[in-house]
Amino acid sequence: MEKRVQLYEGKAKKVYATDEKGLYIVSYKDDATAFNGLKKGTITGKGAINNRVSNHLMGLLEKEGLPTHLVEELNDRETVVKAVQIVPLEVIVRNIAAGSLAKRLGLEEGWKLPSTVLEFCYKRDDLGDPLVNDYHIRALGLASDEDLAQISAYSLKINAILGSYLLPLGIELVDFKLEFGKTQEGNLILADEISPDTCRFWDTKTKEKLDKDRFRRDLGGVEDAYKEILFRLMGGL
Ligand code: TMP
Repeated sequence: MEKRVQLYEGKAKKVYATDEKGLYIVSYKDDATAFNGLKKGTITGKGAINNRVSNHLMGLLEKEGLPTHLVEELNDRETVVKAVQIVPLEVIVRNIAAGSLAKRLGLEEGWKLPSTVLEFCYKRDDLGDPLVNDYHIRALGLASDEDLAQISAYSLKINAILGSYLLPLGIELVDFKLEFGKTQEGNLILADEISPDTCRFWDTKTKEKLDKDRFRRDLGGVEDAYKEILFRLMGGL
């Protein structure tokens, strides 16, 4: 497969067209940003780790019957994916209060939510990805009611699969962000990535943060935390 023009460069990945219709190549970068790009840095080795971790977890989801964009890992930081048009929503699934939820509702970080919380943010960097509900989504035409119902059902199923996979590895799935896309044939599939950039992972016993919060909050040991996640999932690179 040949890489063609770069279609898009995001904060953490680049997307390229290929010589095959319906397929893109994503390339993971070591760049890290937080707070809507206000904080910038590099996490050495992050691109390769996120590529491996995301592919591993999407492979697991595929085995459980969940459609994802994953086609084939090409090399340490590049993967062939199905071409999709991204639904302009960030879907956040929360099991434990943390981050913006803890702040917004005055909850103690670490409080186990009695029931799973699903949130939607409108993917608009210029607006800081504002929180929206199903009425906003319908009024703005961000997704059809049918797609939104499917997105919600997939997100809860992904939470159940990943949560029970990670627990025996000593990882608590606190919360995470998903993005979905539509293929040319009109199929709704999981896209983007699932990695320490997009999830909160806490060590079950020590509650140590093993994710991007170490970068966001200047906690140090960022690279080691990403390596630890890769090690627990796959035994290293
Ligand atoms: P939040 O508590 O800051 O809203 O984050 C919730 C989850 O979403 C957390 O696991 C980190 C992830 N996330 C992203 O992947 N991208 C983002 O831009 C933000 C703000 C959060």
